[in-house]
Amino acid sequence: MPNKVTFNEKYPEIKKSNEIFKRSEGLIPAFTQTLAKGPTQWSKGVAPKYLVKGKGSHVWDADGNEYIDYNMGIGPLVLGYAYDRVDNAIKKQLEDGITFSLMHPLEVELSEKIRDVIQNAENVRFSKTGCDVTSAAVRVSRAFTKREKVLCCGYHGWHDWYISVTDRNAGIPKAIEDLTYTFNYNDIESLKQSIDSDTACVILEPFVFEAVKDNFLTEVQDVCKKNGTLLIFDEMWTGFRIALGGAQEYFGVTPDLACFSKAIANGMPISVLTGRADVMKLLEKDVFFFTTFGGEALSLAASLATIDEIREKNVPLQLARQGKKLKDGYNKIANSLGMDYTKCLGYDCRTLMTYDAKAGNPLEMKTLVQQEMIKRGVLWGGSHNMCFSHSDEDIEYTLKAYEDVLPILKKAVDEKDVKNYLKGEVLEAVFRKTSNFNFKPKK
Ligand SMILES: Cc1ncc(COP(=O)(O)O)c(C=O)c1O
Repeated sequence: MPNKVTFNEKYPEIKKSNEIFKRSEGLIPAFTQTLAKGPTQWSKGVAPKYLVKGKGSHVWDADGNEYIDYNMGIGPLVLGYAYDRVDNAIKKQLEDGITFSLMHPLEVELSEKIRDVIQNAENVRFSKTGCDVTSAAVRVSRAFTKREKVLCCGYHGWHDWYISVTDRNAGIPKAIEDLTYTFNYNDIESLKQSIDSDTACVILEPFVFEAVKDNFLTEVQDVCKKNGTLLIFDEMWTGFRIALGGAQEYFGVTPDLACFSKAIANGMPISVLTGRADVMKLLEKDVFFFTTFGGEALSLAASLATIDEIREKNVPLQLARQGKKLKDGYNKIANSLGMDYTKCLGYDCRTLMTYDAKAGNPLEMKTLVQQEMIKRGVLWGGSHNMCFSHSDEDIEYTLKAYEDVLPILKKAVDEKDVKNYLKGEVLEAVFRKTSNFNFKPKK
């Protein structure tokens, strides 16, 4: 799709966004259903608040402004918005129905397809959200091992067992809090120190932005095996993105259980639990994991089309190729300006921009870059979540915008006055951290 985004003289007009937002004040607590889409992550006063349309890698806000999107719905849009092959599959299924009174054959068809592409998928179950399946994985691990404790390192959803380790744990009973602990990514000793004879499972994202070091994933698997603990990969971000078969294919480490969502259906709500047949067998009866919309057919149809497209077009290769251009391009510009306090890092399919506190307040720096990227028509949340529709033109345009914007940041940092450059409010810290997240080691 041709890039119609242009460098604007002015910040976008966001009148309609603001009017809608006003109506939600006092009505929708936190304003949003998804933290990363809400007002704490988008500079109030500058960023648009509501999107109403998307096509490929571009989106339009409620006021009609067009942007190149690098958030891609916080992960799901791996192919792009309004992607014909997936949308046609949805439309075709829509003619016959969405949710039925008995099972639907697509449940079987998609399970077979997932068994073909995901290494550990001896058995497959579907649900709707990421935390549905991480929670099911934890519960089935507890039932299988007859143990209670969980070790994690990362973000795994809003349910009690996980959020209890964070500082946003109001409403969670102490008894639950006492059962989940954390360890540090790439720090095998921290896992060894925390694991014990009551540890049912270790759950982690195979990687977030930090590169895997020293065979960490294999080491984790060995520690788990020796301890009789199940290993769960949370492949919400890695699945169908780093490789068709996710991180387990990419690194050749097969976990006992794995959880997928986001990219699997290009925006439709579906999640998948895969795993060893002897463990998953408990879901037949002992462990209760059923939900009304689990077999909803539009998402199943979308997922089949998405997986076929990812496989046929080798989408992970394209995500990495385009992501690398942005990552290398950003770093080249920053280096040429001597800005050693900002970097773009991560595996190429999904990279993150960091701002070092040695140069000032990282959130202020990030807010300034966001403000200036938005002015130039790039919906920028601090990361590049790549999709198959990000074109060469998008990448070239975005790098041109960085060439424009990074000198502004440099000037503001040099003047030690970043805040003074901000037109809107400073962003809040992202709830999720990439490591050492609210570390709560074994007592
Ligand atoms: C790694 C990871 N696990 C689990 C979840 C929870 O998924 P959901 O928000 O669909 O419940 C997320 C959500 O962003 C995630 O990034």
